Amino acid sequence: MITCRDGRKLEGKVAVITGAASDIGKETAAKFISHGAKVIDADIQKAARPRNGKRARTKRLRHKRIRHLRRTGFCRLQAWIARHNVQQCRDSMSTPFSIVDLDLAQFDRIMAINVRGVVAGIKHTAQVMILQGSGCILCTGSITGVMGGLAQPTYSTTKSCVIGIVRSMAGELWKHGIRINCISPFVITTAFSLDEMKEYFPGVEPEGLVKILQNASELKGAYCEPIDVANAALFLASEDAKFISGQNLMVDGGFTSFKSLNLSHLVQ
Ligand SMILES: NC(=O)c1ccc[n+]([C@@H]2O[C@H](COP(=O)([O-])OP(=O)(O)OC[C@H]3O[C@@H](n4cnc5c(N)ncnc54)[C@H](O)[C@@H]3O)[C@@H](O)[C@H]2O)c1
Repeated sequence: MITCRDGRKLEGKVAVITGAASDIGKETAAKFISHGAKVIDADIQKAARPRNGKRARTKRLRHKRIRHLRRTGFCRLQAWIARHNVQQCRDSMSTPFSIVDLDLAQFDRIMAINVRGVVAGIKHTAQVMILQGSGCILCTGSITGVMGGLAQPTYSTTKSCVIGIVRSMAGELWKHGIRINCISPFVITTAFSLDEMKEYFPGVEPEGLVKILQNASELKGAYCEPIDVANAALFLASEDAKFISGQNLMVDGGFTSFKSLNLSHLVQ
């Protein structure tokens, strides 16, 4: 049921987005604003500027202040979205592939941002949403959280945790009318993934790295872009998804749904 004018799905709603200053988070902020939402940018970088060139009507906010939202003048918090990630991926990038080489202090640092950060956000957001008796929480997982071998194990581990956190929290939040879901995207060419690709393919020009990532998609003629994730977030945050909770929506062109038997090589 869409109740707002001009098909705008988030008219008069408020959304807090962590990691809204760049790439996927920025695209999500722009999408939400175009659908009438007020977006509070909780990034550690400067306030979001969406790709359409217009300055976003965003307010910066620290995690710990989320619980004071009711006093900020935005009294109905529709959505809290975790889009943040280990900053610039420096830590995540340099984690070793083998468990035997793992630096546990570094592991703790990455878990603190990607996992504890998500839990902290849910905690403070839930305090506001429980008072309202409604709301929607979206967390960002990844294909690497559902299949091994797609990224460094530390990053994959954090994303598996995020998917588990969503299921676990859904088990409590339903009784307060709060929906919580996860979105797990395929690889997208952002600063984060390109930085990581530089490690795999030293010497390859940025355009070459973009091509490699875009060709990794299984779905013919398409590759994953920030807008695909933003559209999934809009759907899940809107009334269109009013009965959907505890899910992990894969935005991966089917990548994690199948494996090809590849029998053709047996036919001589
Ligand atoms: N790019 C991909 O291929 C891909 C694929 C699957 C999932 N993801 C996930 O999508 C999300 C966004 O990824 P992206 O590619 O846009 O990354 P990005 O690095 O471009 O953006 C991450 C943003 O998070 C902010 N940030 C970092 N630490 C923060 C903190 N403690 N608090 C608030 N903000 C913080 C950064 O300043 C940055 O603006 C991440 O959770 C990432 O793991 C990305």
